[in-house]
Amino acid sequence: MRKSLIAVALAAVCVIATDAAAQTYPSRPITIIVPFAAGGPSDVLARVVGERMRATLNQTVIVENVTGAGGTIGVTRAARAPADGYTLSFGHLGTHVVNGAIYPLTFDLLNDLDPVGLIGANPMLIVSKSAVPAKDLKELIAWVKANEANVTFGTAGVGSGAHFSGVYFQSLIGTRSRYVPYRGTGPALQDLVGGQIDIIVDQASNSMPQVQAGKIKAYAVTDKKRLAVAPNIPTVDEAGLPGFHVLLWSGLWAPKGTPKEAVAKLNAAMREALADADVLKRFGDLGLEAAAANQQTPEALRAHQKAEADKWWPVIKKAGVKPEG
Ligand code: MLT
Repeated sequence: MRKSLIAVALAAVCVIATDAAAQTYPSRPITIIVPFAAGGPSDVLARVVGERMRATLNQTVIVENVTGAGGTIGVTRAARAPADGYTLSFGHLGTHVVNGAIYPLTFDLLNDLDPVGLIGANPMLIVSKSAVPAKDLKELIAWVKANEANVTFGTAGVGSGAHFSGVYFQSLIGTRSRYVPYRGTGPALQDLVGGQIDIIVDQASNSMPQVQAGKIKAYAVTDKKRLAVAPNIPTVDEAGLPGFHVLLWSGLWAPKGTPKEAVAKLNAAMREALADADVLKRFGDLGLEAAAANQQTPEALRAHQKAEADKWWPVIKKAGVKPEG
């Protein structure tokens, strides 16, 4: 009798403690792990959204860049973090889908992270250093073919968006030029501007400022429609590489088992950010489109991630893409 009373009392204390934690969450800073270098498209997007989430959560939101291995180092760090709502994983089609078919991950990419919400997407831009003597996409493709052994494509590591988009691009034009991996396409873009590498199939949000500054050349956008922010850049369909469509979507996840109340608060803060006029203006300037409201739920992200894995994993496994490139 006495033992059962103690058990009931302990259970009650646990429930009260859990409820209290849920009500006070977040009581300390939240860290968003971005698996690429500072200054790149993932980092910029995470900071824009994280900064606005801070206002809703009334808590500091820190972005930590944990780089390497096409984003798998950072995602693994997040997946292994305590499931308490204070560590989140930012990533995208490359890090939270493609890498599952390339790297021997030590966790289950589709089940060991709980989705918080889909943030948005942007197409890729085919860009080159300014010295490349091509004035349109067809001439760029001819130049790559003529200089195949010496052409370099900048990436953020095997499995990154820039890498699998570059592999896809080269598979369509029939070349096998070399990839140069960076810890993110922020540093890769610096080398493209400096002329150290030749081409990046880059997230539009990353390259747009340098294109607009005339520091690099843009040839086409990997979408069916032109970018509102850059109506003079043709689509791949218009420029001569029809069907080369890649939309890199990004989202937020939490370690598996994160309390549902915490995920709900994080999702609500993310949704407020995606409805914020200043955030949407920044997205527009960068060529980013926020996810539709009905696609911002955790359930929608889980379904989208699974559908993308079903679509891409067979393609990537058939292509035999390995972590060493
Ligand atoms: C990529 O996958 O190419 C990344 O988004 C690069 C980055 O964010 O630095």
